[in-house]
Amino acid sequence: MDINNFPPPFIPLSPILDDGYWAKPHQHKTPSIFDAQYKLNTTSGRAALSIALELCQVTSAHNVLVPSYHCESMVSPALRLTSSVFFYKVNKDTSPDIKDISEKINKQTKAILVTHFFGFTQDLSDIKQLCDKHNIFLIEDCAHAFFGETTSKPVGTVGDYAIASTMKFFPVLDGGILASDKHDVSTITLNKPTLPFQLKSAINSFEKAISFKRLGKRGTFLNLLLSVKNNLWNSIKRSVSGSEKLTSVPGSSEGGFGLDENWINVHSTYFSKQIITRANYSSICSKRQHNYKVLHNALKDLPGCEPLFESSPDGVTPLVYPLKFDNPDLHFSALKEKGVPIWRFGEYLDEQITPEEFPISCELSKTIFQFPCHQSLTQDELDWMITTIKETIKS
Ligand SMILES: Cc1ncc(COP(=O)(O)O)c(C=O)c1O
Repeated sequence: MDINNFPPPFIPLSPILDDGYWAKPHQHKTPSIFDAQYKLNTTSGRAALSIALELCQVTSAHNVLVPSYHCESMVSPALRLTSSVFFYKVNKDTSPDIKDISEKINKQTKAILVTHFFGFTQDLSDIKQLCDKHNIFLIEDCAHAFFGETTSKPVGTVGDYAIASTMKFFPVLDGGILASDKHDVSTITLNKPTLPFQLKSAINSFEKAISFKRLGKRGTFLNLLLSVKNNLWNSIKRSVSGSEKLTSVPGSSEGGFGLDENWINVHSTYFSKQIITRANYSSICSKRQHNYKVLHNALKDLPGCEPLFESSPDGVTPLVYPLKFDNPDLHFSALKEKGVPIWRFGEYLDEQITPEEFPISCELSKTIFQFPCHQSLTQDELDWMITTIKETIKS
């Protein structure tokens, strides 16, 4: 089967809108990046990172240190400012290799990006000390860790700036956060999202919920309304030239990793902001922790597989369940053909990342698959995923 031609996932890869999001905004007691004093809502994590690097005054005279285990959207914001990107090694548990970072720091180093991979927060004490000593900006990449604590503080409040990707934790089409406990980023002026983008953002979340049958009888009614809307819209598109611009959304919302200049200085949509404020954080965290444990107990001893993390410590809100495969090429296709949703973070690394210099990152990139453990999965969906993974491996 063509690698780009797998059937759609049989169960949702990311969170889905359900009845839990219509309550009054919650008083959040769960530690999260929202605890930072200053916040700015952007369209994506990469947009937030682009603005953070601008605020650090990164130019072509500088270099930025980025993990060698990465995706394009963690690198392109620095390249956009024509700075050099130096990659540093990560350890087997994805923590930053402090020795390698120390060796790579030079007078031109302006900022270091540290990623809390898969929701497992990193201890930032040593890196913070290094940054303070050399007058370097520390940027916390919380794209995988909206919730949790690091170095005894809420995630995202230790560094100079932090970024989040809200699409990964909430049922929204768009959204990123630039946060800081030290610098007032809330006053930065961004453009308002256009009305078509606002509408598309809300409609998309409903469409996804309906397609996974999450809205009960209301879903059937909404589905009818949406099919009328789709028919109308398709006929407008056929008759009006240039109408495709009206429906455009950031590439980040469609699963792309590129950085689009046009979406950097735009606020996230009203719908996305509402969902994030109304979400019940403690319920999201406990459901994710529970689902992670269920997956871990079921899959940890599978032959040919090994969990990336031995356990999920208290206080960690996992993004996904990362599992290492001895035979990734064979199993990836087999699982995708059956509709199992899989993320492959860091599948395509920068060409500077060679197995000779960065053996661990190359191995993580090739062998680790991530399975969803988000709050919207039902017990039946979890059971189906576990059974399908087990059967695929055994066969
Ligand atoms: C670790 C990490 N940082 C940053 C980003 C960028 O986030 P966004 O997709 O919201 O632009 C991603 C995206 O997947 C990511 O995985």
